[in-house]
Amino acid sequence: MKKIKLKNIWIIALILIVLLLAYPSYLTIRIVSKDYAISSVWNIVTKDIKDDIFKNDYSKTVEVAVNSKEFVKDNIDNYFAIDYQDKDDFINRINILLKVGYTASDINMIDKKLSDDVIKSLYDHELIKDITKYMEYDYFKSENLYRYIDYYYGDYKDAVVMVNIGLDKEYYEDVNIITEFSEDMLANKYNQLSEDFEPKNLSLIKSSCTKTGSGNQYLSKVAQVAFEEMCDAALDDGMHILANSAYRSYSDQQQTYNTYLNLYGQNYVDNYVAVPGYSEHQTGLALDVAARDYNTFKTSPEYTWMLENSYKYGFILRYRQDRESITGYKNEAWHFRYVGVEAATYITENNLTYEEYYVMFIDK
Ligand code: DAL
Ligand code: ZN
Repeated sequence: MKKIKLKNIWIIALILIVLLLAYPSYLTIRIVSKDYAISSVWNIVTKDIKDDIFKNDYSKTVEVAVNSKEFVKDNIDNYFAIDYQDKDDFINRINILLKVGYTASDINMIDKKLSDDVIKSLYDHELIKDITKYMEYDYFKSENLYRYIDYYYGDYKDAVVMVNIGLDKEYYEDVNIITEFSEDMLANKYNQLSEDFEPKNLSLIKSSCTKTGSGNQYLSKVAQVAFEEMCDAALDDGMHILANSAYRSYSDQQQTYNTYLNLYGQNYVDNYVAVPGYSEHQTGLALDVAARDYNTFKTSPEYTWMLENSYKYGFILRYRQDRESITGYKNEAWHFRYVGVEAATYITENNLTYEEYYVMFIDK
């Protein structure tokens, strides 16, 4: 009897020893088969996340986290959901953002959309919340993040659009210099044309579509063709829409500017005439129109016709009423810009300025 008991104890002890030896091997095999390194097994087991490891697919973020001294066990689900980035201090940064209330998907977006420098400064300002609200727009620009935050007054989209236009800065303060012609280019108080900038394929507008006495008027070919088509269509409706001042070179604009400055003073030109280099007329894509039988275009039936039809030919009224704060100019009933039919249609249907359209769809 005693002998048998002793034998049983030995057997049980043997089984225990085998189990004690086998269990770590068993865990190791399971963990390694999930693609974690053998060197990570100790931390995974001692930090007690093995069950999470078995439940989920491999996560590099988890592996780096569990091996780092910044590991926070409560963040384990988020670690699994956050895409790994090979960046300094990554786990610490995740922990900070989770602490201030960002979700894993916010953090993935932040890492995708912000440049490294901005991310670094962001973590230094660990209290910044809601930045992902700005990032929802595909025209969000990482380098403008702090400007959006400064500009924000309750509307995230507006902050992104207005800052991308440049409206948080003074006119002419921080200008882009444009040297290349393109059909969708933007010239305004933030986007300057070089002095020698010339439009592509300047083409003469036919005389039947030009105001008598205004001389030869030119537009870039694409705009000239569209303008003549529009002028002919208007004529079919009994409307005489004529080019009064189309392309103006830098020096033409200088003359125009000086003339109006001498006639009406600084305040007038600030509101109605572009400083040379900043005029859309220099792009060859904009023109001032006139109606044959009216001195004031705004009171003519042609003006109404243009409001209703010009987009079909790719033109928009560029300086609309009540948009001075965006365009930088007071309403000019006579100044139209060729932007192409698709853009003109969208801009008209959505009551936008070209500045807004440009930052949302072109300059992304
Ligand atoms: N009148 C417009 C603003 C120009 O001079 O270009
Ligand atoms: Zn004009």
